[in-house]
Amino acid sequence: MAAKGLALLGVLCTLVHALSGEEGRASDSRAVRAKLTRRHFAHLQPDIDEWNRLGKPTKAVFQQNATADAEGLLVAVPQNSPSLFGTDYAANIKYYVYNRAQPGGVVVDLDAAALLAAGFNRTLRTTVVIHGYGHDITDKLYDNVARALLDVGAATNVLAVDWGTLCPKPFYLSARSRVAAVGGRVADLLGLLVDADLARLADVHLVGHSLGAHVAGVAGRRHKVARITGLDPAQPLFTQSSSDLLTASSADLVDVVHTCVGSLGFRQPLGHVDFYPNRGRLSQPGCSFAADKLTLGECGGGTTPCSDAVL
Ligand SMILES: *[C@@H]1O[C@H](CO)[C@@H](O)[C@H](O)[C@H]1NC(C)=O
Ligand SMILES: *[C@@H]1O[C@H](CO)[C@@H](O)[C@H](O)[C@H]1NC(C)=O
Repeated sequence: MAAKGLALLGVLCTLVHALSGEEGRASDSRAVRAKLTRRHFAHLQPDIDEWNRLGKPTKAVFQQNATADAEGLLVAVPQNSPSLFGTDYAANIKYYVYNRAQPGGVVVDLDAAALLAAGFNRTLRTTVVIHGYGHDITDKLYDNVARALLDVGAATNVLAVDWGTLCPKPFYLSARSRVAAVGGRVADLLGLLVDADLARLADVHLVGHSLGAHVAGVAGRRHKVARITGLDPAQPLFTQSSSDLLTASSADLVDVVHTCVGSLGFRQPLGHVDFYPNRGRLSQPGCSFAADKLTLGECGGGTTPCSDAVL
């Protein structure tokens, strides 16, 4: 509970900071942006209402309210980042192939020839790794999961999905609203693998962290894969009735590791088998909230999300 209070305080501090930069702007431009925001996120309103009804924390960040301070966080667009309202998923999602020759991954087009040229091997199984909110291809997830699979000689291709420019902190509402669309792009990738005879769905394993776990769930509902591993699926603004929630219907085996329950991680079981190490809650070993960090769920060093503690 103390951690939650601290996190909330952090969010509020961020808000105050963000707002101080907004002062002096024409109030009518703020009203226009607020209207745009409400329209853009209208499809999330039922989830937002349910989230508020359940009395979940972090309401400041996730609330839609034309007059509330929180609006400043939701609509301010970071420089050099696509608009929060942008829908150019094709241009903003990148796919990487990892192999032993290129352990850092090589970026490829969604194209069979490009995948093969990058070392994709159609005789192997395929693992697709998808990061979560506020991360990108530099996420430790790719070191810890993608490269580790190669290091142990697993008979699998490793693909990574980078949707980092579409889910930057602190714009959680925007990132969360894109889960279905990004999942659709991952489904396109799976469709391509099947159509080009590069892989069979029965040999595909999706690994998703945080919002990426739900992205995997969306993709798997269109092309049911052998397995999805959800690493700490995100909780905020997801309810058990959300249409883009990771569920057991997306793969023959859905296994889930919950490591941030009560904060950023989903509490209820979502798969065929759900693990709750250390009861699934903060703090996990090696992971704690840092008082000087204004972001939810950061580890002491400020670079690792709490849910990465078990990766
Ligand atoms: C918006 O937020 C303000 C400040 O928190 C509050 O007074 C107001 O009632 C809210 N409006 C709506 C429509 O929720
Ligand atoms: C694909 O993987 C198989 C099994 O490891 C291996 O025998 C074959 O040489 C690989 N093909 C290419 C093109 O690397």
